[in-house]
Amino acid sequence: MIRLDKYLADMGIGTRQEVKRYIRKGQVMVNQKIVKAPEHKLKEEDDQVFVDGRRIDYVSYEYYMLNKPAGVVSATEDLRETTVIDLIRDRKRKDLFPAGRLDKDTEGLLLITNDGQLAHRLLSPRHHVDKTYYARIRGCVTEEDAAGFAAGVDIGAPGAGELTMPARLEILRSGSESEILLTIQEGKYHQVKRMFQAIGKEVVYLRRERMGSLVLDKELKPGEYRPLTEKELENVKNEDA
Ligand code: URA
Repeated sequence: MIRLDKYLADMGIGTRQEVKRYIRKGQVMVNQKIVKAPEHKLKEEDDQVFVDGRRIDYVSYEYYMLNKPAGVVSATEDLRETTVIDLIRDRKRKDLFPAGRLDKDTEGLLLITNDGQLAHRLLSPRHHVDKTYYARIRGCVTEEDAAGFAAGVDIGAPGAGELTMPARLEILRSGSESEILLTIQEGKYHQVKRMFQAIGKEVVYLRRERMGSLVLDKELKPGEYRPLTEKELENVKNEDA
């Protein structure tokens, strides 16, 4: 059961004060009857709510796959910058957040949700959910680099020592600029860039392709998003990593 004013505010109809006004003015119907009490309790799943004749269904959780474009920050709010949440134009919930962060200049897969439990499971270092990145690297990436990454590389400040967990490096093209796929199990700050920095090479383009069972939809251009499919959601919820 949920209060009518909270139901409407949760669905982004207005602030709590605004929706109270709509209710008191008689703009809101519950199951064909005008209800003027903001504290009226209803069942999110069963009761039908209309505001000015428009049906408002309640949504508890939302899950979106976003292809994050470069130039946008992985935050919920920012005074100056566009955030990944600003890009989800038809969101209903006001409490969406990105499950994990990508750097401002990184593109690719980001899960946007308000399901804190699921996000925690995906991100908790204990669960070791694999993340795969595609990158273009300035410099010639070699099989020795792959062996080094498999063994773990020190990405700490000189003398500080911060060893990464074993990572899988697949070389797609190697030359003065190389293309690679890198799969890591953790998400340390700027991890991919720091791993290449540690071997004297520079990431010039970075895109996340996969997070556990969730794979970036090739149809999504940078900046585009779609709800997760039921199958994707089921798989992510059962992530047994
Ligand atoms: N590693 C990085 O260096 N940057 C990202 O955005 C993600 C992983």
